[in-house]
Amino acid sequence: MRINKKLALVSVLCCGMLFLQSFVQKHDDDKPTNLKILPKDISEEKLHDIMRNYSRALGVRCNYCHVATAVPGQEHPKWDFASDDKKEKNVAREMMIMTAAINADHLGKIKTMGDPLEQIQCVTCHMGRTTPIISVDSLPKPPKK
Ligand code: HEC
Ligand code: HEC
Repeated sequence: MRINKKLALVSVLCCGMLFLQSFVQKHDDDKPTNLKILPKDISEEKLHDIMRNYSRALGVRCNYCHVATAVPGQEHPKWDFASDDKKEKNVAREMMIMTAAINADHLGKIKTMGDPLEQIQCVTCHMGRTTPIISVDSLPKPPKK
């Protein structure tokens, strides 16, 4: 009898610990696991600001760069933000490096009247499109006077 009670107590404790552990793990799942350029300890708020900024700059939604799988019978897809399967996400990483390099190595060295030039961002080139206008021939024709 006694041993059974002890066993019951031990198994209750174990269940409790497993429950707590799964809770802690679930919490950890929300943390980014695959940042290669942004600081790994970035706050969730900052990360989401940056991501919204990219989406607006390119005129897209999150699924342009991130894997979203439709779940039958559910309104929202299942997201895998850590996955690198979409080529757009990897291009975006290259673009982050390029943008930082333009700012640091080029614009940062040009001083106008003592003030550093403003930095460029994704929107500077993309202006709400995935493909920036790269030729003046693509610009709308100026009105005839
Ligand atoms: C133009 C491409 C692009 C768009 C659009 C985009 N992201 Fe990202 N996202 C990235 C890149 C690139 C990284 C990885 C950055 C790094 O390696 O430091 C990333 C990383 C993340 C991560 C961290 C994943 C992990 O575990 O490492 C989250 C969360 C995320 N994005 C959420 C979003 C959300 C939410 C949206 C829509 C509001 C969004 N992203 C739109 C390119 C994009
Ligand atoms: C100096 C200009 C410039 C800046 C700044 C810039 N991009 Fe780009 N980006 C381009 C050009 C040019 C292309 C190539 C478009 C094409 O495929 O014709 C491109 C392509 C891309 C593509 C691939 C589009 C496709 O059709 O496959 C992604 C994704 C992207 N950029 C994301 C970003 C993000 C995110 C940022 C900011 C971190 C950024 N870019 C900043 C010029 C720029």
